[in-house]
Amino acid sequence: MPQRRILVTSALPYANGAIHLGHLVEYIQTDIWVRFQRMQGHEVHYVGADDTHGTPVMLRAESEGLTPEQLIERVWKEHKRDFDNFSVGFDNYYSTHSPENRALCEEIYGKLEQGGLITKRPVEQFYDPVKAMFLPDRFIKGECPKCGAKDQYGDSCEVCGATYSPTELKNPYSTVSGAEPVRKSSEHHFFKLSDPRCEGFLRRYTQGDNHLQSEAANKMKEWLGEAGEGKLSDWDISRDAPYFGFPIPGTDEKKFFYVWLDAPVGYFASFTNHVRGKKLGDGLLQDFLRPGGNTEMVHFIGKDILYFHALFWPAMLEHAGFRTPTRVYAHGFLTVNGEKMSKSRGTFITANSYIEQGLNPEWLRYYYAAKLGPTMEDIDLNLDDFVARVNSDLVGKYFNIASRAAGFVAKHFEGRLLPVQADDSVNWPASAVAIASADNIAADFENREYGKAVREVMRIADIVNQHWDKAKPWELARNPDQHKALHTICSDCLNAFRILSYYITPVMPDRAAKARDFFGVTGEPRWTDIHQCAASVKPYEHLMGRIDPKQIEALVAANTDNLKPSAPAAKPAAAKTTEKDVEAATAQPTHISIDDFSKIDLRIARIANAEHVEGADKLLKLTLDVGELGTKQVFAGIKSAYDPATLVGRLTVMVANLAPRKMKFGMSEGMVLAASGEAPGLFILSPDSGAQPGMRVK
Ligand code: MSP
Ligand code: ZN
Repeated sequence: MPQRRILVTSALPYANGAIHLGHLVEYIQTDIWVRFQRMQGHEVHYVGADDTHGTPVMLRAESEGLTPEQLIERVWKEHKRDFDNFSVGFDNYYSTHSPENRALCEEIYGKLEQGGLITKRPVEQFYDPVKAMFLPDRFIKGECPKCGAKDQYGDSCEVCGATYSPTELKNPYSTVSGAEPVRKSSEHHFFKLSDPRCEGFLRRYTQGDNHLQSEAANKMKEWLGEAGEGKLSDWDISRDAPYFGFPIPGTDEKKFFYVWLDAPVGYFASFTNHVRGKKLGDGLLQDFLRPGGNTEMVHFIGKDILYFHALFWPAMLEHAGFRTPTRVYAHGFLTVNGEKMSKSRGTFITANSYIEQGLNPEWLRYYYAAKLGPTMEDIDLNLDDFVARVNSDLVGKYFNIASRAAGFVAKHFEGRLLPVQADDSVNWPASAVAIASADNIAADFENREYGKAVREVMRIADIVNQHWDKAKPWELARNPDQHKALHTICSDCLNAFRILSYYITPVMPDRAAKARDFFGVTGEPRWTDIHQCAASVKPYEHLMGRIDPKQIEALVAANTDNLKPSAPAAKPAAAKTTEKDVEAATAQPTHISIDDFSKIDLRIARIANAEHVEGADKLLKLTLDVGELGTKQVFAGIKSAYDPATLVGRLTVMVANLAPRKMKFGMSEGMVLAASGEAPGLFILSPDSGAQPGMRVK
């Protein structure tokens, strides 16, 4: 096959929140595809960036006392750390708040304007007179016009399900200042999607050349309506100051590009930064960003942002002299245990908490791969199934092959392997079975049928294990006459394991590299390497452990947020749109209710034991007697102030319902309270005499 040249992207995550397991469905899906293409010898550039602009980022920064630039810099580092931890191998991870992006946005806007595709007209919108800003719908709440429920968002009622426009809310208020919004008009810039040139192009684009999955193409057909029906309306691409974004040229910094205009351009900006940074030459930019370069551009996105990627973005590119996407691959949403991710149930799991609990990222990569297909169907992370699948498939079947055979080869044959002929299925049945599936598995990866690919790998692993069992190597080993047969079965099964390790490389790059290393193979893995043959193996080191279900319990506990049962991030996927995605933080009042307070279970505790923790400079390990709640182990950062011996027997106050947390030194099941200020010193609390362990503090 001739070498393909592919620019691959994943959607750019918003810079106002953490990467969670839902996001990772997309980044892992993309990364698997990228690694697979590289193994085929194709030229692939995989770029990403943070999506940094818009009202939510602006307000979030303000509420944290930061400039937007400071906030996005911090979040960028967090996102980068998370992607690195999960081996999401971007060639460049950049930001939409970049000079490259600004220049590209200005060029695109300029071209659209020259082409007569920009129009201006006044728009009346809600305006916060106290904060002096226009309010995106998400920042307006009020009473539902249908059922009267209080504190409902401007688009739909969470109580009765009614949908309406913000102007229909009764007693509306701004969640930013609390003021009653007024209606105010201002001039907006529109991209004329309704222009026959755009509409005609989009009809051809969305229905032709497999740009979209068939379900997506059908959706677009609905959105576009019949020719002449005029269903496609112009797209409002401007926002009034104050706004964190790029100013629209010629508007004196009074108007800014709407975040969704500059966000996809961020793909090009990141690619440009990559090419310039690595000095790959401007010819490469031309090949990938302009028409006629004989290159592909493939976007991986969630189904919620299809509209932007299948309509607005291609139309913008087409009419501004850029290339259009070759493929837009949309995936479904992640549910956990069959329900949408929820902070109160502890299933809104951040990427970082997963790592902090000591879970192996490749367990998740494997599980997602096993679940992923080419459609927009939602995928479920069932936590029990996750444990079972990883333990039985990965550890019990695949790695099991190597751990069974390696010992015999080390003991009897000094690590040497016999040369395998994988086309000789009589003498080398395991290798023959493994190699026979190479093309099918490759096609599955190409078509994003990862679940099928993984099932095929496990089917082969089963067969290899059966060959092993049938040969009874442990009996062959007892009889020196049968050592040739022993050497053969070991070499065959290990070679099959080597081949499977290539198949699983896109999914588990780190463990697969370790497996190659076991055969003494270094360098970039290629699909065609399966046909080679290893002459020896190194001493086998354990490649992957099992998941302990307790780790999953701790993970859920660590993500359970009892104080904010319904933060907006947990809103239904269908309701999720662009700027409406706002962290609760920006809208939270500075007071908490008595209900909020009473969610903290404060208890009197007797310090039954206190000791130093080896290797910890700040911590003491406390064993607390909490009466009816039993004993709890807590690591407290009070070593600098207390000698453990003086603490034993004392009463103090603890938070008893804090999510247990796995620390380097063991589980911590709560927290003791201590006072501190500017001056040095740390003071734990003591109740008046008479208080008993287990009593509630309220
Ligand atoms: N910033 C926009 C994308 C701009 S692309 C030019 C955005 N950001 S996001 O952070 O909300 O989502 C990033 C990607 O993660 C999107 O493709 C989105 O669909 C995907 N997912 C976010 N939550 C998800 C799940 N719960 N499940 C699966 N994918 C999810 O949208
Ligand atoms: Zn209602």
